[in-house]
Amino acid sequence: MYPKKIQIIEIGPRDGFQNVKDFIPTDEKIKIIQGIIESGANRIQLTSFVSPKHIEQMKDAKIIIKHFLEKYKDKRFYALTPNYYGAKRAYESGLREITYVISVSEGHNKANVNRTLDESFAELEKIINDFPEILVNLDAATVFGCPFDGIVTLEQVVNYVERARKLGVKIVNLCDTIGVANPIQVKEIITTLLEKFPEIEFHIHIHDTRNMGMVNSLTAIEYGITNVQASIAGMGGCPFAPGASGNLSTEDFIYMLEKMNIETNINFEKLLEIAKYAKKTINGTYSGHHINIDTKLSCF
Ligand code: COA
Ligand code: ZN
Repeated sequence: MYPKKIQIIEIGPRDGFQNVKDFIPTDEKIKIIQGIIESGANRIQLTSFVSPKHIEQMKDAKIIIKHFLEKYKDKRFYALTPNYYGAKRAYESGLREITYVISVSEGHNKANVNRTLDESFAELEKIINDFPEILVNLDAATVFGCPFDGIVTLEQVVNYVERARKLGVKIVNLCDTIGVANPIQVKEIITTLLEKFPEIEFHIHIHDTRNMGMVNSLTAIEYGITNVQASIAGMGGCPFAPGASGNLSTEDFIYMLEKMNIETNINFEKLLEIAKYAKKTINGTYSGHHINIDTKLSCF
């Protein structure tokens, strides 16, 4: 059974831009985000508050947040933070929603944020206690497999979510960081988590490394997920996960949902325009499966 409506969460401005080596001028980022908003997107991950020594691309996070918070009062904007300092910077820039990242596997957590899981969870607890006005999402990286530790078990995932639940986390984003998930695994993890944690809102975030972004995201919605993360032009990738490729592309996914009569707020043609523009302007990493990006819609 498919839902009638899906909320698309656009993550290109964070997951996409973070993987582009050359600095994208802030005005260019703002133009692309503006286009995404004009296509109808309501929920957008705008940037990340990370160490510029690790990801220089995100050094203009504060400017981007201020710009869009001032311009739009009715949108749900947020940013990724890997540590307490990042959450504090996000708060000071005016944000009241963040996503904090902890991997399910120790190997990737160390490579990504230079912390053990215990250290990351302790810092999460401190953020929740010190910033009660911030709504904290949790990005669960490597749910479906880790480039360093290999297989991640269902038990590890359940224990991880239980740990988050005890801290009061209400939104958990299940990330296939390196694009190794398959539909049976997606079904198993989602049905287990939705049954065990009915109070938690789960999102899905699939990298399209092996062209399985569509099928895995579709499987997720088939089994009850209604919040799907996607990135325009399929931009994306984790600089700290070898082999990580682009994300599920927003325009491909919306095209499919429209054909299936599943509603989103997004205007496909407007989104396609801005996706084409982003692809032309930014020399980043893309997954390889964007049939409709360089082709006129009328061909279909
Ligand atoms: N924002 C800005 N600067 C930050 C910061 C943040 N959130 N966190 C740390 N810094 C600065 C520190 O002030 C310090 O600067 P200094 O050397 O001038 O004193 C420097 O970065 C290193 O800080 P430290 O606490 O030692 O961090 P670290 O070296 O252990 O790195 C992270 C930890 C989390 C900051 C770093 O790994 C990071 O930003 N990773 C990015 C992860 C990411 O975005 N991955 C992709 C998305 S999942
Ligand atoms: Zn990602």
